[in-house]
Amino acid sequence: MSTIIRSSSYEIFIGNDTFIQLEKFLLKHYSGRKIFILVDENTNEKCLPFISERISMLKDAVVLQMESGEKNKSLSTCEELWKQLTDHHADRKSLLINLGGGVVGDVGGFVAATYMRGIDFINIPTTLLAMVDASAGGKNGINFSGLKNQVGTFTKPAAVFISPFFLKTLAEREIKSGFAEVIKHALIADAEKWEELRQLNSLADVNWIKIIDHSVYIKNKIVNADFRERNKRKSLNFGHTIGHALESYSVKHHADPLKHGEAVAIGMIGEIYLSMKHLDFPSNTAEEVISFIQKHFVNMVAEINPDEVLELIHSDKKKEQSEVNFVLLKNIADPFINQNPSDELVKQAIGFSLQPFKSSVDLHQ
Ligand SMILES: NC(=O)c1ccc[n+]([C@@H]2O[C@H](COP(=O)([O-])OP(=O)(O)OC[C@H]3O[C@@H](n4cnc5c(N)ncnc54)[C@H](O)[C@@H]3O)[C@@H](O)[C@H]2O)c1
Repeated sequence: MSTIIRSSSYEIFIGNDTFIQLEKFLLKHYSGRKIFILVDENTNEKCLPFISERISMLKDAVVLQMESGEKNKSLSTCEELWKQLTDHHADRKSLLINLGGGVVGDVGGFVAATYMRGIDFINIPTTLLAMVDASAGGKNGINFSGLKNQVGTFTKPAAVFISPFFLKTLAEREIKSGFAEVIKHALIADAEKWEELRQLNSLADVNWIKIIDHSVYIKNKIVNADFRERNKRKSLNFGHTIGHALESYSVKHHADPLKHGEAVAIGMIGEIYLSMKHLDFPSNTAEEVISFIQKHFVNMVAEINPDEVLELIHSDKKKEQSEVNFVLLKNIADPFINQNPSDELVKQAIGFSLQPFKSSVDLHQ
């Protein structure tokens, strides 16, 4: 059985049997059309055979491959993909299926949204992070000039098909990275869910369908209320103002950079600290959140220069009229957008979030 979450103009299918629905959807909407599948080298090996063997319409699809990794979420990757689409005579009726994590989804969505002024695309997320967050919501894009998601569009997919089946081959570190966005959704929107998550000791025996279902439900509800991110949708950026800066910093300086969710997990610690100082977020709840994050994310923080991270925050696209806009929490599930704590406080928060996951945290420094 699968759940169908309806977004404003497309459907998100979640369940173990979404491949059956994918086949029906393709037959109904894309018979006789050219189909392209974007993969990276890992999803080519671990995920593509599974769908191309089961879905007859995909046997003749043209496979486009990009290199995995955040550093390839770039203009040069897009140029190569636009060229391949052109060489294979993709036309306005062609379909691009993005089979991969958030990087494949963001790049593929952007390539599809811009090729011939826009062709249809479907997302089949294969990482937890893409299942609970990146695949639904219609944002796509690439990094540019050292900044995260500096160029991109808001374009909705034709549909999203989520199956936790793909998690079987996903590395534990990637599962944890995706779990950061699950935590974020509970913190910004659902106190009850947060209490439930808090009881989890390990991610080994989790009912992923239930977790994915709930996370997508929250994200979709917020996105439907404010697709273009004028107000409410900004709450989804909790943890991301510091997180994105750390991620960009890490991609530039570290041989083994932070994963997106790892950077967001650290960012949430920094932004909980800011919430406490700026909005009186209760310190006992802050301690609970921080120790929960520390329990699941350990040994991540390598050498980081807080001044450079602060500079990156100032270049962040969420900066409006020279102010950096944070999403901070007054309490669990009570987010406040457009918050402007002082630079001094932000620098303290960066330092705080980077305390390399000490066993005890001093919230009163
Ligand atoms: N558009 C949005 O709304 C949105 C939201 C959140 C995050 N993002 C973006 O998503 C990106 C991060 O996505 P991610 O965490 O999925 O990283 P990712 O796409 O880099 O995937 C992580 C790694 O897992 C591999 N992989 C993917 N599926 C696999 C599978 N089933 N088995 C084995 N290996 C597999 C990939 O090849 C890659 O090496 C960031 O660029 C972030 O900015 C976008």
